Amino acid sequence: MSYRAETRVLPVDALHPDAEAIEEAAGVLRRGGLVAFPTETVYGLGANARDADAVDRIFAAKGRPASDPLIVHIASIDMLDQVTQTVPPLARELVSRFFPGPLTLVLRRHPSIPPNVSAGRDTVAVRMPSHPVALALLRASGLPIAAPSANLFSRPSPTTAQHVLDDLRGRVDIVLDSGATTVGVESTVLDLTQEPPVVLRPGGVPVEALREWASDVVYTPRYLGSDEAASAPGMLLKHYSPRAELRLFAGSGQATLDAMGIMAAALGGDDKRVGILTTDDAQAAFANLPVERVSLGRADDLEGAARRLFAALRDLDSRGVDVILAHWSAREGVGLAVWDRLVRAAEGRVLGAE
Ligand code: TXA
Ligand code: MG
Repeated sequence: MSYRAETRVLPVDALHPDAEAIEEAAGVLRRGGLVAFPTETVYGLGANARDADAVDRIFAAKGRPASDPLIVHIASIDMLDQVTQTVPPLARELVSRFFPGPLTLVLRRHPSIPPNVSAGRDTVAVRMPSHPVALALLRASGLPIAAPSANLFSRPSPTTAQHVLDDLRGRVDIVLDSGATTVGVESTVLDLTQEPPVVLRPGGVPVEALREWASDVVYTPRYLGSDEAASAPGMLLKHYSPRAELRLFAGSGQATLDAMGIMAAALGGDDKRVGILTTDDAQAAFANLPVERVSLGRADDLEGAARRLFAALRDLDSRGVDVILAHWSAREGVGLAVWDRLVRAAEGRVLGAE
């Protein structure tokens, strides 16, 4: 079943949020409705995390399987104790270093947070966003807000209010529009209920930065089909997908670009519309082919690529391409999150990885 609502869009200044609009959205949350709001990573689809019915509406609106748990957003570090049972010393340290910001910690769930938030687990994922609009909404409502990314299930996450509307118009009560988000990929999810701590999803906080605080943090990329993924949240392979089929080329150097060019020409010969997604330096290699080109920006600007990634995938979709040939190889810093999202969008079709 889907959640139906008449969607209203309220423009809100990203740095100085209008108190009236925020209060209106907070009222909708208190009454059990859904509010899409910007965070520094991507837009979230929020509901009162203490209201199991409101949380159900999130799953219904997104078409998200009830087996995939949600992140609970909090306004302050003090609120941690309202949503979790115990906060171990390492969690305290990471919180003081990385909150507010794009880090989500998995801890033991507080009894006041209904089980459907966490897909029945006794853990809960918590984060304190740094976006002024998200913080204003959290403070005005006085509630912890459960929110996944505000996209339809398995579509790329939304980095603008327009992306949210493209997916969820008619399924969310209010969309707070504060323009494009700045980080562009979702938060890093770190599970602190395991020893050593495990990165479940690379994101806005680089794994290298976490290791400065907890040198034993484990990250082993494992991508699963939908059956297996039900027991391992966040590991689902088919995710963040554009409608077009995406093939990811991972090699560095001219040979990889040549192989992409050959494939683009062959696909074109088969009457397929081809999209090319690379950094600026590689775009020229495809200038003479009948392809749709989108750039992720300068190759040495990993943050820029992360910021542009999801909009680029949606842009290529809107140009009606059948196949996207993407080129990306960086796995350091936030480049690892870009890599992860592209591998998932490619459903594992990675060519030429070293
Ligand atoms: O940046 C972000 O994290 C955005 C913004 C809106 O905050 N949110 C987001 O939520 O990306 P979502 O639902 O799209 O992704 C949440 C991830 C999923 O991979 C989910 O499986 C994992 O966090 N997760 C949530 N609760 C968990 C739990 N209790 N145990 C393990 N993984 C959990
Ligand atoms: Mg998501």
